[in-house]
Amino acid sequence: MKLPAPLAWFSLALAVSAGLPAQTPAPLPVLQLDLQTPGAKVSPTLYGLMTEEINYSYDGGLYGELVRNRTFQDDPKKPAHWSPVVSSGAAGTLSLDETRPLNSALPVSLRLEVASASAAQRAGVANDGFWGIPIKSAVTYRASFYARASSGLAGPVTLALESDDGATVYAKADVSGLTTDWRPYAVTLTTGQLTPTTKARLVITVGQPGTVWLNLVSLFPPTYKDRPNGNRPDIMQILADMKPAFLRFPGGNYLEGDTIATRFDWKKSLGDLAGRPGHMGCWSYRSSDGLGLLEFLNWCEDLNMAPVLAVYAGYSLKGEHVPAGPGLKPFVQDALDEIEYVTGDTGTKWGAQRAKDGHPQPFKLTYVEIGNEDWFDKSGSYDGRYNQFYEAIKAKYPALQLIATAKVKSRVPDLLDEHYYRNAWQMETDAQHYDGYSRTGTKIFVGEWATREGAPTTNLNAALGDAAWMTGMERNSDVVLISCYAPLFVNVNPGGMQWKSNLIGYNGLTSYGSPSYYAQKMFNTHLGDTVVPIQADAVPTQTWQPAAPKNGKAPEPRQVPVLFTVATRDTAKGALYLKVVNTGASAQTLRIELKGATSVAPEGEVIVLTSEHPTDTNSITEPTKIVPVTAKISDVGRTFVHTFAPYSVNVLTLQAR
Ligand code: AHR
Repeated sequence: MKLPAPLAWFSLALAVSAGLPAQTPAPLPVLQLDLQTPGAKVSPTLYGLMTEEINYSYDGGLYGELVRNRTFQDDPKKPAHWSPVVSSGAAGTLSLDETRPLNSALPVSLRLEVASASAAQRAGVANDGFWGIPIKSAVTYRASFYARASSGLAGPVTLALESDDGATVYAKADVSGLTTDWRPYAVTLTTGQLTPTTKARLVITVGQPGTVWLNLVSLFPPTYKDRPNGNRPDIMQILADMKPAFLRFPGGNYLEGDTIATRFDWKKSLGDLAGRPGHMGCWSYRSSDGLGLLEFLNWCEDLNMAPVLAVYAGYSLKGEHVPAGPGLKPFVQDALDEIEYVTGDTGTKWGAQRAKDGHPQPFKLTYVEIGNEDWFDKSGSYDGRYNQFYEAIKAKYPALQLIATAKVKSRVPDLLDEHYYRNAWQMETDAQHYDGYSRTGTKIFVGEWATREGAPTTNLNAALGDAAWMTGMERNSDVVLISCYAPLFVNVNPGGMQWKSNLIGYNGLTSYGSPSYYAQKMFNTHLGDTVVPIQADAVPTQTWQPAAPKNGKAPEPRQVPVLFTVATRDTAKGALYLKVVNTGASAQTLRIELKGATSVAPEGEVIVLTSEHPTDTNSITEPTKIVPVTAKISDVGRTFVHTFAPYSVNVLTLQAR
C-alpha cells in the first residue's frame, strides 16, 4: 500500500489547528503547460494491441469456435472433452481411430461404435466445449462436421444443444444421408428464450446400431461482422472501443514455439479448416490454428488496425536455433512468402493464394518484426540471423520497416523492440525512461509492457503504474513510435490462465476490461498530435522501499513523484488534452497554467478512473466496478485550479489555443 509523503499544506493545517501562529499558505503545486513551444510530434500509431495464443486467447477466447478438440488431436490417448451419451437400453463406445483418415492434415477421427440403439434409446457423443458450451436466447448456431458410417447407417444423426445433465434440450436438428465415404454436413440450431448458461454441451447421437466416424466437429455462434470462421462480437467490441492503431501478431512466444517444429507455421494455418493440422502451442495446450494468418489479417481489417507482422526468425524457446547461413535460407524464404501473402497482388504466387482463401485485396504492411525476444538466444546467433532476414527483405521490400528484438551490430535496425514487465513502483520510478533517448538513434517499439499487479486481470494500482508509464511513452512518442501491452486476453475459468496479469478477461458468456484497459482506452482516445511541454513545480513525492534481492541488502529507499503528467494538443480540433495520474492516497489540488494561450473556453471535460483502494479491480462478476466517469468542468482559464482524486487517472479536455 502506498503512503503519501508529508505534504507542505498538511503541515500548515496542523499548525493552524494547534493554535500556532498562522503562516502564509504554501503555494499549490503548479503545472505550467507551454502552448507557445510545440513539443515532439505524437506518433499516430503509438497505441496498438499485442496478441498470441496464451491464456486461451483464441481457442476458448476470441475465436468463435465452441467445440473443444474438434479434430481429436488434443490427446493422443483419448478423445479429450468428448464423452459417451448412451440412453438406458442402448450401448455404444468411443475411441480414437487413425484408419481411413479424413486427410493427412487431420489423421485422427472419433469412432462411435453403437451395439444397440433405437429412435427412443439413442447412443452418441457429447463435447463439453471450453468450460461448457455457452448457450444464449434466440441465437442461431451453425454446426458442421465430417462423417462416414458403416454400410447401412445413413442416419438420421441428431445434433442437439443440451444442458450438461441432458435434462434440457435447447435446440436440435437432424442430418441424414451418411455414406461409407467422408462427407461434410452442416445444420443450424436455433435456441428459444432461455437463461444464458455455460452448463451445456453439444450432443451428436444416432438411433440405430452401426459405426460412425466423425472429424472437424464445429459449432459457431454469430460472429463479429458475421464473418464465417470469425470472432466473438463482445470481445471484438471491447477492442474496437480502444481504437487500437495496430495488431502485433502472432507473438510473443507463440511465434517461436518451444521447438522449431512447433513454431507458428503460417502456411499450415491457411485455407479450408479441414487442411489445418493445428499444432502444440508453447503455453501448455494445442492450437487449432482456426485463427490463422488470414484471420489475423481480417481481424486487423475489422478494427481498422495496421498489421505488425512478426516472422519466425530461427530461434525457439527451448534453445533450438538455426545460425545464419544456408540453413537459415528456407526460413528467410518463408518470411518472404509470408510478406507476399499479406501484401502481394493476385499476380504473385502467395497473393493468388490469399485471393483463393477469400481476400483478393492486398493488405497494407509497414512493420515486420524479425523474431521475438531474441536476447534469450544465448548462442549469440541473432545478429547474423537479423542481418540475413534484413538483407533479403529489404532487397525485395525496401519500404518495410524491420524491427529487431534484441540489440544488433551488423545493421542499424529501423526499430528496436523493448519489453517491460514490472510492478507499479518500478513503472512509476522509470516513467522518465525515454526522456533521455537519442532523437537521432533507432526508434523504439515497446512491443510488450505491463504493470503486473492483480490476477487474472490487473487492478487499479496496475492501471496507475501503466498510466504513469504511458505519460512517458506519449511524451516521447517521437522516439517510441509504437507500443502494445501484453498479454491482451485471459479466459478466467479455472486452468485458463498461464500468465497472471492480463488486460481483458472473459468466460464463455461475458467479457470485461481491467482498470488497465480503461486507462489505455482513455489515453488512446485522447491522443493529440503534438506534445505540449509541461513544467511541474512542487510536485510531492512518496517513498518506495524496493525489496531486497535474495540474500542481499535492501537498496536505499527512493523518492517517487506522486503525480505523472503529459499534455498534447489536437491541432485540427483545437483541443488540449492534459493527462494527470495521481498515484497517491491523497487528493492533489494543482494550479494549472496555460502559458501563451490566446483563447481558453471556460468549460471543459474531465474523465476520471478511480476507486477507493489501489487493489480494487474489475472481475467477471463485477465487470464495471472501476470504469471512467466523465464530468464537465467550469471556470477554466489561462490559470485555474483542479483537484485530482486519490488513486486516479484523469484526462482533461480543454478548448485552448
Ligand atoms: O506476454 C507473455 C510473454 O512474455 C510473451 O509471449 C513473451 O514474448 C514474453 O516473454
